[in-house]
Amino acid sequence: MKAENVSVVGVGYVGLTLATVLAERGFRVTGVDINKPLLEKLNRCEPHFYEKGLPLLLRKTVGKNLSFSDHIPGDSDTIILSVGTYIHPETKKPILEQIIRSAEQISENLNDGPLVILRSTVPIGTTRNVVKPILDKSKKEYSLAFCPERTVEGKALDELKELPQIIGGINEESIDLAFDLFKNITNTIVRMSSLEAAEMVKLLCNSHRDLNFAYANEIALICEKTGLDPHEVIRAANSGYGRSSISTPGFVGGSCLVKDPHILNYCVAQTDYKPRLIISGREVNEGMVDYVFGRIKEKVDCGGKMFITGMAFKGKPETDDLRDSPSVDLVEKLRKTGYGNISVHDFVVSDDRLKSLGYNPVSLEEGFESTDCVVIGNNHERYAYLNIDSYLGLMKKNSLFFDVWRMFEPEIITNNNNNNNNISYASIGK
Ligand SMILES: NC(=O)c1ccc[n+]([C@@H]2O[C@H](COP(=O)([O-])OP(=O)(O)OC[C@H]3O[C@@H](n4cnc5c(N)ncnc54)[C@H](O)[C@@H]3O)[C@@H](O)[C@H]2O)c1
Repeated sequence: MKAENVSVVGVGYVGLTLATVLAERGFRVTGVDINKPLLEKLNRCEPHFYEKGLPLLLRKTVGKNLSFSDHIPGDSDTIILSVGTYIHPETKKPILEQIIRSAEQISENLNDGPLVILRSTVPIGTTRNVVKPILDKSKKEYSLAFCPERTVEGKALDELKELPQIIGGINEESIDLAFDLFKNITNTIVRMSSLEAAEMVKLLCNSHRDLNFAYANEIALICEKTGLDPHEVIRAANSGYGRSSISTPGFVGGSCLVKDPHILNYCVAQTDYKPRLIISGREVNEGMVDYVFGRIKEKVDCGGKMFITGMAFKGKPETDDLRDSPSVDLVEKLRKTGYGNISVHDFVVSDDRLKSLGYNPVSLEEGFESTDCVVIGNNHERYAYLNIDSYLGLMKKNSLFFDVWRMFEPEIITNNNNNNNNISYASIGK
């Protein structure tokens, strides 16, 4: 059977980008979501998040072969589940409520024959032990595959076409059907021996990425205690030496990296193996907000004028995603501890959005003006193009410039010729 009508259930970051790329490739696609105002926006070709190329692709496809609805059309031959998965803030246990609800909705309206693909990031065994029993209640024939989303926000539309697709299936026929779908968008497909192996691939990719950052952050903290410059040593370690690919120290956030290592840890919670590395790495990264806060507090008291720029959880590739952003956590921590004069800025997140979340968005000029502390919270490329000398000239005497990602060399900040305001430079480990 060749898929023609595809339903993508959950049109958030993952579902919407996949739906538009499938529509671009000629499938008749319905994006399904329970959020009705969101559906109205999407039917007007207005995406609800920033993703490079997405507005154009929506204009090309919506009203032609892409539409949005609050229910799954009965003639769908492929149904892709891309709803959210979360962890409990305290217990860190996975929350699969959206998966269960949406699987129930699929099951209640299932016709014979379709391929159901789970795309969300889930604990090992979810497709077989959670989704399948719900679908079985329908007493209908269906195929079932797990194909994880591995794109990075900000480059999702390109990566959907470039990255290998990982496919696990309940049987060979399910893998073949998922293969036939994904071969239309990408050249490389990896067939896995089981659903569980495919689920594991996603978890280990993100846990590995989180660990890479944690390693860099730990090296930076060691450098601080040993009086070394972490960026100098990491740069040298990576230089022409293929066996090192150490990340840059920095804030680690976003809705995936903060939860997926915990989900992987949860997968063996009932066994006698307790992972040590993965959760330690997470703890190092989770500690970075407290670390930056602690260093700020040493230098600037609660009465200080604070300016945080780079509110999105990352700057490169650029995104307007504030979910689990360490800069947001830092602002909250400053507020809770009595810092009352805080303004924020981001190159991608709109001022209206920042205002709606209770922040005080300002221009870069206003932010730097008479400020006691500037925090560069993410690695957006536009920082490199700022005439930083003129901004530094606006800062207060003896103020602090906290450059979390080392977007500026320390000497550029401390030796700037035009200003005589004795600015201190800080970054992770320096
Ligand atoms: N954000 C990323 O770049 C990324 C990358 C790889 C994997 N993932 C994983 O993909 C999954 C989705 O992530 P996301 O960032 O797109 O989440 P999201 O929160 O942006 O989107 C989820 C969408 O599902 C909708 N939804 C919830 N319940 C529903 C239901 N019963 N029926 C229909 N729609 C429903 C929500 O309204 C929302 O629009 C998660 O498991 C995540 O870990 C995300």
